[in-house]
Amino acid sequence: MTRRKLVVGNWKMNGLKRDLGEVRAIGAAAAAHPGVDVALCPPFTLIADAVAASPGLVIGAQDCHAADSGPHTGNISAPMLVEAGARTVIVGHSERRADQFETSQDAWAKAAAAHRHGLHVIVCCGETEAEHDAGRAERVVQAQIEKSVPDEAAPDWFTLAYEPRWAIGTGRTPSIEAINAMHAIARAKLKQLVGGEAARGIRILYGGSVTGANAGDIFAASDVDGGLIGGASLTAAKFVPIIEAAAALG
Ligand code: PGA
Repeated sequence: MTRRKLVVGNWKMNGLKRDLGEVRAIGAAAAAHPGVDVALCPPFTLIADAVAASPGLVIGAQDCHAADSGPHTGNISAPMLVEAGARTVIVGHSERRADQFETSQDAWAKAAAAHRHGLHVIVCCGETEAEHDAGRAERVVQAQIEKSVPDEAAPDWFTLAYEPRWAIGTGRTPSIEAINAMHAIARAKLKQLVGGEAARGIRILYGGSVTGANAGDIFAASDVDGGLIGGASLTAAKFVPIIEAAAALG
């Protein structure tokens, strides 16, 4: 099964209205490369503005609550995201696991809620440096996938992102072989959970210090279907070369 490359920008807690020019430029690059899927996840406060600035670009969110509404001060629900114009959402990002103590079960519930409301869902997994050094990465990632991926996950609404925490924002990346090996392990785990056909179609993104310089080599690996990009998605100057690298691979 051919899996179209997907490149997702995660602006994290960055972005003000003055940055909407970057959204427009990223949207123009996405439109110029119709062979690759592109999404951009700005902070909640910019979602509606980003949609207005670049109506053709898929705009997403970086989290959502598992409930539709209720007494959850400071949280944002999936229907709110839909109303703001978001079409996709990242859940279970390692920064939320670390800063907000979110678990894989939380990611599962958020993914299910987002899917109920028609959002595309990107569930993140990835080991810490200590787990990596202790040789536990494989087991950690398998357990995260088992607990956070809904049984009904399917390629048209679900994407997995493998992001070793020690590679996020550090400029360090695993070797291409190590990335591809972990993606193959993740795909095998998905197969157990959702069946072979769905697992062959679900895209698995790599995240962690992807740049215009390394994206082509990383995305060319057989089990890597694109990237989840933090720092290098903040400006069109840095993000567009990553979109181009994905487009060049067809
Ligand atoms: P980075 O972040 O590209 O800045 O390493 C990736 C991510 O956290 O999604």
